[in-house]
Parts: sequence; structure tokens; C-alpha cells
Amino acid sequence: MRFCFKVKQGNNDSPALKIIVTASTNSTALCLSINRLSLLKSLQKQRLTMSFNINRRDWLKKSLIATAGLSAASTYIQRAQANPTVRRELQMSLSPDFQLENSFVGINPPVVMKARLGANENPWGPSAKTKEALIEAVGVSNRYGMQSRAALVKLIAEKEGVPENYILLGAGSSELLTASMVAYGLKGKIICGDPCYISGNEEKIPMEKVPLTKDYQYDLDAIAGRLNGSQSLVYITNPNNPTGAILPADQLTAFINKVSDKTPVLVDEAYIDYAKNPKTDCMVASINAGKNVLILRTMSKLYAFAGLRVGYAIAKPEILKTIAPYCSGGFDISVPSFAAAVAALKDTDFQHLTLTNTAESKKYLYDFLTKAGYSYIPSSANFVLFPIKMKGQDLMSKLMAEGVMVRRWEFDRQHWCRVSIGTMDEMKAFTDAFSKIAS
Ligand SMILES: Cc1ncc(COP(=O)(O)O)c(C=O)c1O
Repeated sequence: MRFCFKVKQGNNDSPALKIIVTASTNSTALCLSINRLSLLKSLQKQRLTMSFNINRRDWLKKSLIATAGLSAASTYIQRAQANPTVRRELQMSLSPDFQLENSFVGINPPVVMKARLGANENPWGPSAKTKEALIEAVGVSNRYGMQSRAALVKLIAEKEGVPENYILLGAGSSELLTASMVAYGLKGKIICGDPCYISGNEEKIPMEKVPLTKDYQYDLDAIAGRLNGSQSLVYITNPNNPTGAILPADQLTAFINKVSDKTPVLVDEAYIDYAKNPKTDCMVASINAGKNVLILRTMSKLYAFAGLRVGYAIAKPEILKTIAPYCSGGFDISVPSFAAAVAALKDTDFQHLTLTNTAESKKYLYDFLTKAGYSYIPSSANFVLFPIKMKGQDLMSKLMAEGVMVRRWEFDRQHWCRVSIGTMDEMKAFTDAFSKIAS
């Protein structure tokens, strides 16, 4: 039997590196995952060992390894600045699409998906009005998108209450996030929470990771205390991914007031639409107050645009100018997507439907977990993270074999499962499969 080893870099949703072992005499592929520390040891010893002994020391050691890798990451960012192909690669590792594709590696034969709960997509859309606008715009898609782009920028600026030159469009927010990582990564370290949406990318992004508090919240005091001029940007995902926890607006505003004159703050608000009061929980007021804040938004979640690719940045023009050289500024968005985005932003009925359905499915999941003896982190997003009693990779593979896709994490001495909120049928498919596997 011959084994073929393929080493894959961990993606942003999963800090672990993956080793995919394919037995060439057998059609069944095994997908194993080991943590970074184990991987280094394994490679040194020239043999594959599996270690899932996760403890706080490992977590801290991982942070040290990340520090050692800082110069490699700085070199990578310089290459990304100079070379669009490298930038594209960085964007791929920041994109859930790519991560989703990776989740299928090792599953053979392909299963019929009963519940796609791995990328925090919106299962209820696109809305009827979005589809109508899309189809209608196909008829004028022989024309370039200048006017459609202007119409979308105008609508977003009105909705957010900022001038139009405070908006920069992107083909999804991954494009704008990548541009921000390149623009600021060239100037210093990106300081972020651990874990957060970008924290698995320390080989590519020069970063300093600050562990979350015991309540799995951003440790804003610790982040402020670490700022010493070597960091060029603070990155906050709010609500955080993977935890779903949201920072109270007054705390985040106070933090911004304290640090942003010296170190700009990027607030990734991909899930802000699921918060209790999106208008006041978001940080637009800080931008209007003249602060050095860059907000990133995606239409992939509440508006069900994951495949249509529309996102935007909000900031004062001098900040947008910093990231603009590394992104398309909306020129990669098609005319039908522009038209669909305008329709979707106006379609408040669909937005309410999504929020009502999300609340119902989330409550079902919370009740199930409580009854089954599992705790969870209360979520202000369209996913829930909970600690599991088995290895994350085992759970993920077994659920996948049942047609249920989820994501896994390892941090703070724990294996974790992140379940996106889907339709009730999807949630039932998850709870049925989970009960079978984990009880
Ligand atoms: C926190 C966060 N930021 C950004 C993105 C990227 O979204 P997109 O590129 O689809 O706009 C995601 C996607 O899951 C996310 O979770």
C-alpha cells in the first residue's frame, strides 16, 4: 500500500494544518488533521503521529511559533503587494468558499448533502425580489456597470448615513479584507483576537494574536495594553467568528476612542445584521466622528449573496485610499449582481423573514444542546459554537458521512464544533446525525 501525503495550510476558519493521507490501493480516503505543534514534531521525526493533547500551554506555544513566523509572513505580504497572483492566493485562504471546498477533501464517495451548515450561508435566499432583479438585469448586461455601480454606492451610503465617498465596493468582503491585510500588513503587525476570523493565517499575515477572555470575548484591555507602535492595525470581528459573541457597542466605542488615533481599527461586521440593534451595535458612528475606523460588510449572510459576491467597506476616504490599490473597488461585480444588491437591500420583508427563521432554528439548536448536556456560547450571529466531547475532525468526518457539513476548532484545551443556522429540516438533520454519533 502506497501513501501519498499532501500538506495543506490551515485556513482562517480552522487554525489546524491538515495532512491528507490517501491510500492508493483503496478508494477510501482518510482525512486526518493534527495541530501545528504536532505537525512540526512529526515532520522532525519523519513519521506521522497524531496528537490531540490540547492544553493552554500548547495554545501559548502556538502563539510563540506565530511570533517566530512573523518575518516569513512579512515577506509573504510584500510578495502579495507586488504580485496579484499571491494576493489571489491570500484571498483564497481568507474565503469561506475555498474552505468549504477543502471540507470535502477526503470524503469519498461524495455524500448527498442534507444540511450545509459549514459556511454560515443563508438557506432561505436569494429572495424572490433579488431573483427578479437578477433576471431583469441579464437583459442589460451587454453594458458596462458604471451606472449600476453608482446606484448601489448611493443606496449603501444612504442606508449607512455616510457620504458616498466613504463607500468602497468589493466582490465580497474577502476581497476588501485581503486588500486591508496587504495594505496594513506592509506597515506592521495586525493585532487580533485568538481565535477570530483571520487568526489561522499567521504564515501569510504578520499578526499578533491576543487570546480571548475566559468568557470567549475579545480582551480589549489586553489588546490596548499591547499596542506599542509595532502594530499597524487592530482587527476585530464583531460579532466574532467562530464564537458568535458580540462586543457591547459602548465598550468597543471606548476602545476605538482610546487607540484609533495611533492604530486604526478594522471592524469586520460580516454578521452585524444578526445583532439585536445593528444600527447602534455597528461602529458607523465612530466613522462619522472622524475616527480611524474601517468597517467591512458582506451581503453574503443576511442578504443570501454568498454566490453573488457583493461586499463593501465604510471609512473616511484617506483610509479607503490605503486599501484601494489592492482591490477592484467593485469593478469585479457584474451588472446583474449590482441590480440584485439594490433589490436585496430594499427587500426588508426578506430580511425580517431570515431573522425570524434564524431565531427559530437557533432556539431549536440551543434547546437540543442543553438537553443533550452540551454548553454553547450565546451567539449574535447565524452560527453557534459549542465545545464537544470528541475530536473535532472525527465529528466533522462522521457528520459529513451523514450528509451534514459543519466546521471544527481547537482552542483553550477544547475541541469545538461550529454549526451554521439552517432551515428547521437542516437543523433536524444535524441533531439526528449528532445524536447518533456523539451520544
Ligand atoms: C467574519 C467574516 N468576514 C468576512 C467574510 C467573507 O465574506 P464574503 O467574502 O462572502 O463577503 C466572512 C465569511 O464567512 C466572515 O465570516
